[in-house]
This record gives sequence, C-alpha cells and structure tokens, in this order.
Amino acid sequence: MPEESFVGYQAGESHGKTLLIMERQSPRWSEFAPLLKPSFGAGTRTERKVAKAADISDLREMGRRRTPKPVFDYVDGAAGDEISIQRSRDAFNRIEFMPRVLRDVSNVSTSTTILGRESSMPFVFAPTGYTRMMHAEGEIAVARVAAKAGIPYSLSTMGTTTPEDIAKVSSDARRWFQLYTWRDRDRSAALLKRAQASGFDVMLLTVDVPVGGARLRDVRSGLTIPPKLTWQTFLHGAARPFWLADFLTTPPPAFATLKADESITMSQIASNLFDPSVSFADLDWFRSMWKGPLVVKGVQTVADAVLLAEAGVDGIIVSNHGGRQLDRAATPIELLPQIVAEVGKHMEVLLDTGVRSGADIAAAMAMGAKAVLVGRAYLYGLMAGGEAGVQRAYDILSTELIRTMQLLGVTSIPELTPDLVRFR
Ligand code: FNR
Repeated sequence: MPEESFVGYQAGESHGKTLLIMERQSPRWSEFAPLLKPSFGAGTRTERKVAKAADISDLREMGRRRTPKPVFDYVDGAAGDEISIQRSRDAFNRIEFMPRVLRDVSNVSTSTTILGRESSMPFVFAPTGYTRMMHAEGEIAVARVAAKAGIPYSLSTMGTTTPEDIAKVSSDARRWFQLYTWRDRDRSAALLKRAQASGFDVMLLTVDVPVGGARLRDVRSGLTIPPKLTWQTFLHGAARPFWLADFLTTPPPAFATLKADESITMSQIASNLFDPSVSFADLDWFRSMWKGPLVVKGVQTVADAVLLAEAGVDGIIVSNHGGRQLDRAATPIELLPQIVAEVGKHMEVLLDTGVRSGADIAAAMAMGAKAVLVGRAYLYGLMAGGEAGVQRAYDILSTELIRTMQLLGVTSIPELTPDLVRFR
C-alpha cells in the first residue's frame, strides 16, 4: 500500500503494483450549489457586453460586428497598401522586455506630467475626425471617459462636436485642440480663439496632411462624408441594426466647425480645404495665435525634430498619422530613440501610431516618449459600445500598463528606462 494517502484517492493494486485510484461519488447538490453563480454581472447590457473584451483586439472585433463595413474600414484602414501601420504593429511586436526581478512592486504610480500638467496615465486620447459616425455618442463619450480618468482628450478640427460642448462635459479636465490649417487663415484663427475661450490649453498642429492620404478602403467602399443614404447604405445598415437605429434617431453626424457642401471622401475634403503651403515660416503665426503649449504632430525625421526644437515649439508628436497619410513612412517607434537623443532635452517628445496595448505604452515610454497618443484603440471601443466601450478601452490599456510595469519590476513612470527594452 502507498505510504501516503491523498484526499479524493484510494489505494489499489494492479498486476502486483500499488496504485492510487481516484475516488468517484454521485453529484452532491450541497457541494456544487455554491459554485453556481448567476452570469448577469453588474452594469448595463452594453457594459456587460464590452466587459467580455479581454483586449483591444476583442473590442475591435466587437466594433467590426456592430458597425457598417464602410464605417469600420474608415477607422481601421490606412493609406495605400497599409504598409506604414503594419510596420508599426510589427515594430511593437519586435520589442523585447528585459524585466528586473526582486523589486517591491506592491504599489505602482502611473501619474506623470505632460506639457506642464499632471495626467493620471502617460497616454492621451488622440484627435480623430467625424467621430459621431462611428457611434452617435461620438466625441462627448470620449471626452467624458478622459475626464473621469484624468487624462487629456484631444478634439479634432474635423470633429462632430463643438469645442464649447466638449468643455461642458469635461469642465475640470484637460482639453487639447488639434488644428488643421485651412486655406482661409481667418477661419483657422477664429477656431483657435473659440478653443482657447473654451479652456483648451494645448494646440496640436497637425503637419502630415498637406493633402489627403490615399485611403483605398474608402474609395472601394464608396464612403463619403457626410455618408450618402443609398440603398447600399441601408443594406449595410440592415446588417448592423443598432448602428442604423442610432443613425436614424439622432441628429446626423456633421462637422461641428465647417460646412461640407457635398458628399466627398474624407481625403478629398482634406485636399480641398487644407492649406498645402504651410511651412516653418508660419510657426511664428501659430505661436502668436495660441497662449499655451504648441505641439507639432506628425514629425517623421530627426532633421525636422531638430528644426522644430530650434524653432522653440514646446513638443512634437513622432507620428505618421496611424499610417493614414504617407504609406511606407518611417516607423515612429523605431525613430523615437534617435529623436529623443537629439532633442529630448529641449522639448517633450510624444509618440503615436500602432499603440494597441498597455505593453506598447510601457515600451514607448521606456524608449523615451514623454507620453503616447492612442487613436484606433479607443475608436474600436466607441464602435463596440459608445461610452461604455471607450471606458472599456481605457480600463484595458491602464490595467495592462500597470501589470506590465509590475512585471518589469518598476513602480513609477520615470523608472521606465531604455535598459528595459530592445528590438530583436
Ligand atoms: C485620425 N487621426 C487624426 N489626426 C489628426 O490630427 N486629426 C484628425 O482629424 C484625425 N482623424 C483621424 C480619424 C481616424 C478614424 C483615425 C484612426 C485617426 C490620427 C490620430 O490622431 C493618430 O495620429 C492615430 O490614430 C494614431 O494611430 P493609432 O493609435 O490609431 O494606431
């Protein structure tokens, strides 16, 4: 007989060998009844639905199933053959962590200072245009989540909500305003005035859209802005009844600060309205129009980063617009360490393009970013479930960031240093 006995096992014998045999019993209600838990947890139906997303790619899939294909493709797609965005994703996946062990990581602080003000997390919701097309709750939902979380929210020039309305729902929170420069400079100046009067403190000057990028998915799907209500729209909408119901029972999405006279592609709007002649010589004009930090978004070479540092801007965003402008553009996360080495002492260097997880955020911070912007990650959440979906995207990114920091052996943002990461 075996010398030791175990709960649930009996001693037995077979072919002269002693064996441990698992004991069997009839199911006993008193034992398994406490394990039966009702599956309807707390929250609304939508909150419960998005709670099932384990990561941003699950939210993307939920968003894809809820939104008509042309709308999903507008968000998910990029320019040309989509090489830029794919390379950014590949580059993040190539990053290897080198964690430190035997560190006390019981308490983690993710708070940091971005452009002179505190943020609870080192990430920011990026400006994205025409957001109410993704979900009727649009920019208001995104701004509310950012305000609750204590991170900055950036409103796009191409937004479907006015700066004044954003200010109403996020009065104590930080608001950044993103500018595309119109051919009509007076209109740009008037818009900046409105944003400043509504308490937006940082200006993001987007410089990687002298003309619209070649968004081939939009050409193929025939998506126009505003969306044309064709039979095809209804056909796509019929397969996405929640989206269609929202679309038909709420005010149609429309640019909040510009008038689109005809239905054309987003890329054509950019090419028709934006001023392709904007140059370094205009920086003084932008500076004179804005009291707070001026940040240039869309920097893609070390040389331009140096010129912008010399021009005295407060920060830059190393970005290729999520791969939506110049396809085959340099990969921001690969460029970042060089740019930080050259100009990081003179201004804040932020990064975006391809960030899909808290681990990506930790990696970018370790490679020298002062903060990271996320675009599609929260838009997938918005498409999946409006404000509840954006909240879920925030919860996923922040939880992943904290866990990654603990597994790396660090407890604060300044401890995310280059020795913790390398490309393989
Ligand atoms: C954008 N982006 C963008 N940028 C900007 O300066 N003004 C804008 O109006 C828009 N609009 C916009 C719409 C959509 C649907 C997307 C996905 C992106 C670019 C955005 O600010 C940011 O640079 C990228 O989204 C970052 O890449 P990820 O995080 O989406 O991979």
